[in-house]
Amino acid sequence: MDRIRIRGGTPLRGKITISGAKNAALPLMAASLLTVEKLVFQNLPQLADITTMAKLLGQHGTQVEMGKGAATLHTPSISNVTAPYDLVRKMRASILVLGPLVARCGKARVSLPGGCALGTRPVDLHIAGLQKMGARIDLEDGYIVAEVPRGLTGAEIVFPQVTVTGTENLMMAACLAKGETVLVGAAREPEVTDLAECLVKMGAKIEGIGSDTLHIQGVNALHGTTHSIVADRIVAGTYAMAAAMTGGELELVGARMEHLQAVIEFLDRVGISVTSTKDGFSVRRAANTIRSVDVNTAPYPGFPTDLQAQAMALMTLGNDGCTIHESIFENRFMHVPELCRMGANITVNGATAFVRGVPELHGAPVMATDLRASVCLVLAGLVAKGDTIVSRVYHLDRGYERVEEKLAACGAEIERLAA
Ligand code: EPZ
Repeated sequence: MDRIRIRGGTPLRGKITISGAKNAALPLMAASLLTVEKLVFQNLPQLADITTMAKLLGQHGTQVEMGKGAATLHTPSISNVTAPYDLVRKMRASILVLGPLVARCGKARVSLPGGCALGTRPVDLHIAGLQKMGARIDLEDGYIVAEVPRGLTGAEIVFPQVTVTGTENLMMAACLAKGETVLVGAAREPEVTDLAECLVKMGAKIEGIGSDTLHIQGVNALHGTTHSIVADRIVAGTYAMAAAMTGGELELVGARMEHLQAVIEFLDRVGISVTSTKDGFSVRRAANTIRSVDVNTAPYPGFPTDLQAQAMALMTLGNDGCTIHESIFENRFMHVPELCRMGANITVNGATAFVRGVPELHGAPVMATDLRASVCLVLAGLVAKGDTIVSRVYHLDRGYERVEEKLAACGAEIERLAA
């Protein structure tokens, strides 16, 4: 397994081009199951998870042609409605084929994703929504077995809590249902909006895009289209934190400030200046001090849980103490013990971490546990005194394109140690 070695202490300076969003690309790829026509995606990120989704769709019958940063997906017919455990367990987002398969074929057999490092992560809201739309669903041998021989019927679905992929699954299913579906308490993440906008280009009838109430009028069929995937706000936010921590200045090309308002407000209070540029935005630490600022994660437009670990890495160097409250997942603090091994002063009490700022971190061998925790350890390594070796970087490769190349190009002393 590859590892990454970082020698900390160099301020980052330069430009980083932000790729298309992983969490938009995955549902968009699943949407290819909804039509017999071709979908062409531009600005597709080159990530392990994208490859996994292409493999999953391929075994359903989708022809996938991958180009550099682009892909054509074509599902003239669906030869298999089973999403097997050995693929689903690698990537929870595989659940996104459930809605499209039921909508297109009237049946699906999708492995339950199972838990992950972040917690149990049930999919009960996905299932309840499809049942509301008329699907009969049984759980057999760890699989979700769905059937609706006469096709889905529109329904009003009220989410008791915000679910991003739950909203996406049911929005895709509703596009081909008979009648109107209303999703109340829908997720408003920019990746959900990007999917909705692509579905409309495919002929879907969706009102309320970007709000927490979506009205979808079912249609008989969807057609193909070409779509450029929205920039990855989490990757942009990650590199913004890297600039903040190292005291350098980075321009994030292609990033959209309007998708990171809560993060930019946090950085402003920390003492980091964020300025709009022609091609994206720039991040620079003006003063020497990193002010300690509390963080509370929340569904969009609140502070994203996918940037919680990265914000915590920044706060380890704060001038005081702060609390970081994780309200979305029950176990998203696995980065804490690793940061503490680098000299951070963090104590966890349930869903809240208390971070007492320290003057400096020191390099150490650390272990990645999930996608965002692993990048947080890279950020810490960029400022730590001495060498940091991050192991299990396959987690990193799921969500970040060639992170060591991009950081090295901005002055970081970082290299990948092949296994
Ligand atoms: C999406 O996961 C993202 N993944 C996650 O990004 C992100 O952290 C998360 O949304 C929250 O923003 C993709 O988009 C592929 P949820 P998702 O359903 O949809 C509970 C990353 O690092 N819940 O919004 O799986 C759930 O347990 C990944 O890129 C139910 O109880 O998250 C969680 O506590 C990590 N029942 C909360 O809701 C359900 O049926 C939010 O989950 C569904 C969810």
